[in-house]
Amino acid sequence: MMTAAMQEDAPPAAAKQLPERYDGLAKVTGKAKYAAEFRVPDVPAKDMTYAWMVQSTIANGSIVSIDTAAADHASGVLAIITPFNAPKLPQPKAQPPATRHVSLLQDTTVSYNGQPIAVVVARTLEEARHAAALLKIKYAQEPAKLDFNALLSTARPPKRPGREPSDTSRGDIKGSLAQAAVVVDETYTTPIQNHNPMEPHATIAWWDGDTVNLYDATQYISGVKQTIAKTFDLPLDSVRVRCPYTGGGFGSKGSAWSHVALAVMAARVVKRPVKLALDRTQMFGPVGARPRTVQHLKLCADSQGKLLGIQHDVIIHTSVMEDFLEPSAYQTRMLYDSTANATSHRMVEVNYGVATFQRAPGEATGTVALETALDELAHKLKMDPVELRMANYAKKDPGSGKPWTSKHLDLCYTQAAKRIGWSKRNPMPGQLREGSKLIGYGMATATYGANRSPAQAAVIVHPDGRATVTCGTVDLGTGSYTIMAQYAAAGLGIDPSLVEVKLGDSELPRSPVSGGSQTAASIGPAIADAAMQAKLKVISLAIGDARSPLSGFNAQDVEITDGKLHGKKAGAASESIATLLARNGSQTIEAKGSAEPAQDATAFSAHSWGAVFAEVEVDAFTHMVKVRRIAATYDIGTLINAETGNNQLVGGIVWGVGIALYEATHIDTTYGRTVNENLAEYHVPVNADIGVIDVTVLNIPDTKFNPMGARGIGEIGITGAAAAVGNAIFNATGKRVRDFPITPDKLMA
Ligand code: MOS
Repeated sequence: MMTAAMQEDAPPAAAKQLPERYDGLAKVTGKAKYAAEFRVPDVPAKDMTYAWMVQSTIANGSIVSIDTAAADHASGVLAIITPFNAPKLPQPKAQPPATRHVSLLQDTTVSYNGQPIAVVVARTLEEARHAAALLKIKYAQEPAKLDFNALLSTARPPKRPGREPSDTSRGDIKGSLAQAAVVVDETYTTPIQNHNPMEPHATIAWWDGDTVNLYDATQYISGVKQTIAKTFDLPLDSVRVRCPYTGGGFGSKGSAWSHVALAVMAARVVKRPVKLALDRTQMFGPVGARPRTVQHLKLCADSQGKLLGIQHDVIIHTSVMEDFLEPSAYQTRMLYDSTANATSHRMVEVNYGVATFQRAPGEATGTVALETALDELAHKLKMDPVELRMANYAKKDPGSGKPWTSKHLDLCYTQAAKRIGWSKRNPMPGQLREGSKLIGYGMATATYGANRSPAQAAVIVHPDGRATVTCGTVDLGTGSYTIMAQYAAAGLGIDPSLVEVKLGDSELPRSPVSGGSQTAASIGPAIADAAMQAKLKVISLAIGDARSPLSGFNAQDVEITDGKLHGKKAGAASESIATLLARNGSQTIEAKGSAEPAQDATAFSAHSWGAVFAEVEVDAFTHMVKVRRIAATYDIGTLINAETGNNQLVGGIVWGVGIALYEATHIDTTYGRTVNENLAEYHVPVNADIGVIDVTVLNIPDTKFNPMGARGIGEIGITGAAAAVGNAIFNATGKRVRDFPITPDKLMA
């Protein structure tokens, strides 16, 4: 465990960076294997079997019968598992750690269109899909709740609290409204958005006696392990989960959905390995989505722009099966200084699949509303939007009253404003024109909480002076491999290119879910601790070895630099780690490390910050919007790796452009079917939609948050970005669209 004294010896914040991604070569050469691509060790490829997940075609009711006669005799079929013959699970109610509701064929209830209701296993995927099409399913259909807008009056409080209370209130909101010189009172809406990582969900499962093995596309190998152990009532040690590469997750792979346990169940039934891979259409429904939001904001300000009161009331959809709170008003409690503040969250039950975490759950949608409302307020006040935000700058957390661990948002505003050329903006909308294009500038604040959990890691020093670092985390494409190599190298005193990284196996030292932007901040200090322990072991071997030039030194007088042990004082003798270990029986040295949040963590409020500025052009005739440039500056503490960090932030901004202009899942109100369950009709930004994205970070370490000074970076990029684009569209056109995404039809109206 890391102690305060040890922290002083921890690697400096600026650990030597790998020049490129650790996993870059493996990815571009196709050597990196994703869950569905594995062969099962010691099992011939021909013995693999393929499962197809059958989904309901009604939104509410029950299954009366499933006639399998035709499918049973179809080519290659090995098993058809339905609620009428599925093995009874010992723990049918067992829920994953993230408490997602899953459908495991234990009853005949149908709660949404697209719910998993059967699994067909065959020798090939084609045979499984064909047989699935031959099933004759009879339902007893019941009226379904599908029209969210028509059901708004049924909104009710969440049944379970989130990490904060659903409702908060401080100060005198009614009084602030009466005193206000200017009021913004508007409603903003955002649609359902589905996660579409490049890699759809997939599981390969096989039993080996009473133990079960999985390759799974996940953000949380130890969570999948717990889920499967609980569901099948197995000792934890009987489940092993591997996931060396995850092709994106964005929250959807933070939970083990139905297909994971269904693959394990199917493998038990057919007594062979089973591969269950979802296709793109199956990503829309059974594996979570960001819920719809209807957000009512009231901003009350005096004539100078000082906020007197903020009220943010959120209504979201939730599944009839399970509540999930998208906490869109959380950031409204802490982002701006205002005495009166009231927030609430309500839910409308519908027959949809359960909603779940999606990149910056809460802040991604919440900043759409809050930061658009701020822009409306600035316009009414004839005040610069940056000045308005600075007039309400929160020097401490106005919600909790606690000091920030670190906040330099003011510098973000100045730097990003300069980089976009904010001075070119005309505060009067519709004034800047280039031919048929209307040009506009807009900005917004970005923020996301800084999270950290206990984590463990190990470092092994090999006789040749190379090292291996292990941690049971995953790499979603975010850079975990790269920073693990960096921190092990820095802690040990060797070059990062000499470090081999092992992750993505539940047998490795335990790490938390790769969600909540917490991976780097959680595992970094654990790796630093393991590396330091390994270094101390190497040093103590040297000082106790009469043949070492460091023999008899005090441990604190010895350092390791570039793989060489040397005295800290100039001129002292040295030898390499490899020489030392060779002389000592070519031994390997192994050390474990762990870290957890600082003891005084609850005394502070920890958040990352950013300012996003956008320049858009809107065609005056077609109303097509093009985002020409985005300049964003972030205060995320120490930037651990420039390449992977930049990539995270740019990716978040691109998604923010998607929220602003394109993304929406449409569920029809008659059948409850997602009508655009594919990437042709579910629009996400492509390269041609994205202009220049200019990301900078302040790189000011936040050592109150963690010894590396680093806060998370994975989610903040999506926050604020959509509002910045929408605000730029208003500046270009004078049209304020409050129903996202801002498609051309809405600008025409
Ligand atoms: Mo993230 S939405 O916490 O995986």
